Amino acid sequence: MPQWVRVAATSDCPPGQCCEVVAGDRIIALCNVEGTFYALEGFCPHAGGSLGKGSLQGCVLTCPRHGLQLDVRTGGYEISRPEIHPTFPVKVEGDEVYLDVAPAAE
Ligand code: FES
Repeated sequence: MPQWVRVAATSDCPPGQCCEVVAGDRIIALCNVEGTFYALEGFCPHAGGSLGKGSLQGCVLTCPRHGLQLDVRTGGYEISRPEIHPTFPVKVEGDEVYLDVAPAAE
């Protein structure tokens, strides 16, 4: 069952930018790629950098601490890390951005 949580207004995160938002007890990196929003777990797996404060170029988000890069569409890392960074479904209703923070079904 989805658990949609409002996290931002669309104007809070303009195209080409990412921002840090809170969804329940989670910190999330919300990224706007040419008007399409993507959401990822907000802490970098390398050393806990804040991905929401990273830089976005196209679909590639760069961690502000040491430069780890990942594809915001998939959570895949640009270097040879086998893991996938957690992502969350996003929907936009009017001018509001919502995330589904329900645990993934197993
Ligand atoms: S904390 Fe993100 S690359 Fe080191």
